[in-house]
Amino acid sequence: MYKIIRAEELTANIFLMEVEAKRVADACKPGQFVIVRKDEDGERIPLTICDYDTEKGTITIVFQIVGAATQMMAELKAGDSFHDFVGPLGCASEFVGEDLESLKKKKMLFVAGGVGTAPVYPQVKWLHEHGIEADVIVGAKTKDLLILEEEMKSVAGNLYITTDDGSYGRSGMVTQTIKELVEEGKKYDVCVAIGPMIMMKFVCLQTKELGIPTIVSLNPIMVDGTGMCGACRVTVGDEVKFACVDGPEFDGHKVNFDEAMKRQQIYKTEEGRAFLKAKEGATHHGGCGHCS
Ligand code: NAD
Ligand code: FES
Repeated sequence: MYKIIRAEELTANIFLMEVEAKRVADACKPGQFVIVRKDEDGERIPLTICDYDTEKGTITIVFQIVGAATQMMAELKAGDSFHDFVGPLGCASEFVGEDLESLKKKKMLFVAGGVGTAPVYPQVKWLHEHGIEADVIVGAKTKDLLILEEEMKSVAGNLYITTDDGSYGRSGMVTQTIKELVEEGKKYDVCVAIGPMIMMKFVCLQTKELGIPTIVSLNPIMVDGTGMCGACRVTVGDEVKFACVDGPEFDGHKVNFDEAMKRQQIYKTEEGRAFLKAKEGATHHGGCGHCS
């Protein structure tokens, strides 16, 4: 059992939990995710890690209520426990393995949208701890939906907040702020965009035009997080990839977002899943081996 030592509602329907999981915390790197289950019969939920503390042996997760399983998770309080807390899973962010001196010369821009702010935080924090100050744009629909502002402020080189309705910070979507920063003369060597699929798609269209290589995290299309369900199948360049085993981070300029979003819709029904299985054959799953 994995004890929750802190449980907070950050804003409407978005919850933060700090969980005792020493072995996960010891091995964790930015960009990775965990799979949690509230109880023995619970749904498996893949969540990108928001923070980790190797001294305390804890992992922090942030999640939004999107269905029955996350609703039940949101009811847990400090002192309660998760039945399963598996990880760290997936590949770490690529920059973690880069030569630190070359990395220090790069100008990095992070673009976080809504709940996607949570997985951006450990990446920016890791860079800050290694002497690299990145620019960060955080976008939310309104001021009330903004999360982790203070945490992000403490690790970002420059933090730009933007709200769609202009209720706080700059006005407009994250792409508007990217445009403004570039017009103000900012130059970036790499962009990391994490948020809703539609946001990542439009950030990638924009950064492609601007010539800024861009990494995205495809956590939103995962279901079981183990390569078995086939939900996170995505075309990257001319290759079929699975977000949970090959990612979750990919070259955003190569991701076929339209296909991934359409497939995500089809996957929701039993009939849709049967259709995808028939159409995709042996490439339907991410490595279970049952198809071939
Ligand atoms: P949201 O819909 O409130 O959007 C957040 C911000 O994204 C907006 O404020 C805006 O600035 C930007 N955005 C949205 N649509 C855009 C567009 N068409 N063009 C440019 N920018 C746009 O976000 P939310 O409701 O907090 O997000 C929930 C989604 O985030 C879920 O789908 C969830 O799966 C996803 N999510 C993704 C990750 C990840 O790893 N990529 C992690 C957690 C959550
Ligand atoms: Fe099921 Fe990746 S989430 S195959």
